[in-house]
Amino acid sequence: MRKELEVRSSYGSPNTSPVIEIVGLRKTYGEGEASVEAIRGIDLIVNEGEFLSVMAPSGSGKSTLMHIIGCLDTPTSGSYRLAGRDVSHLDEAELASIRNKYIGFVFQQFHLLRHLTALSNVELPLVYAGLTPNERRMRATEALRRVGLTDRMYHRPTQLSGGQQQRVAIARALVTDPTVILADEPTGNLDSASSEEVLGWFGEFHRAGRTVVLITHEPDVAKVASRVVRMRDGLIVGDGPPELVFGGTGTTIDGANPLVPAIKGFDSASGKLGPK
Ligand SMILES: Nc1ncnc2c1ncn2[C@@H]1O[C@H](COP(=O)(O)OP(=O)(O)OP(=O)(O)O)[C@@H](O)[C@H]1O
Ligand SMILES: [Mg+2]
Repeated sequence: MRKELEVRSSYGSPNTSPVIEIVGLRKTYGEGEASVEAIRGIDLIVNEGEFLSVMAPSGSGKSTLMHIIGCLDTPTSGSYRLAGRDVSHLDEAELASIRNKYIGFVFQQFHLLRHLTALSNVELPLVYAGLTPNERRMRATEALRRVGLTDRMYHRPTQLSGGQQQRVAIARALVTDPTVILADEPTGNLDSASSEEVLGWFGEFHRAGRTVVLITHEPDVAKVASRVVRMRDGLIVGDGPPELVFGGTGTTIDGANPLVPAIKGFDSASGKLGPK
């Protein structure tokens, strides 16, 4: 299985290695009659430097998938390798350390600590990473500068607009230099101008060579990525570049193995069709 995966994973971008390798993933909440099968068998490979969006209606299992990809939760069955390491069965302490090292999170509700300044919020992941106070301050200041918030560093979240709070959250996600930036409905609480700005940042990260996974139920948000994975009822039902996934030209692959490229010649890293 593993060998087969390696061969197939090369379809998107032959020069990069897989960062996320998910095989036969299932997640069931609860037991017996009250149980809910939120993810019902997903295979997904994301290569280094891809900008992927996962799009699905409410209740389809997007956040469940995000929690597993982000090592906030573990699957009921199936395997998940992050940056080459099997993280399907780690305990809470191991998961926390992997999260801090590999994942930068951006959530719909920002999840900033209200009593801390923007600067202290951005420093927080670096405290867990064990950096000295000086290093933390320098890196957090630089991350806030990058998202244009130098003049708001000492403000608390309640003194910032929604868009500014999300930019603080983005700086916090970036500051550890994570392998994957994982965003769950990052524009869900923002007006259209702030949404555009936030999505622009994700595009920037992608151009800088980072791997970005953007989870959303909105086609207008999903299409900013170079590859769109559609989910329905806990399964992947489509995978390809946005113009084809939304163009209805045959990327829906109900019943097929989602690891098989729906579009021949689609380069998922650049989002372009045809030979490089
Ligand atoms: N902790 C939980 N316990 C039990 N069921 C859950 C739990 N979390 C999610 N579910 C169920 O799993 C299914 C998938 O939920 P999930 O939150 O992943 O969907 P989603 O696609 O993120 O939806 P939304 O767009 O509304 O955020 C839903 O039916 C939900 O009710
Ligand atoms: Mg959700």
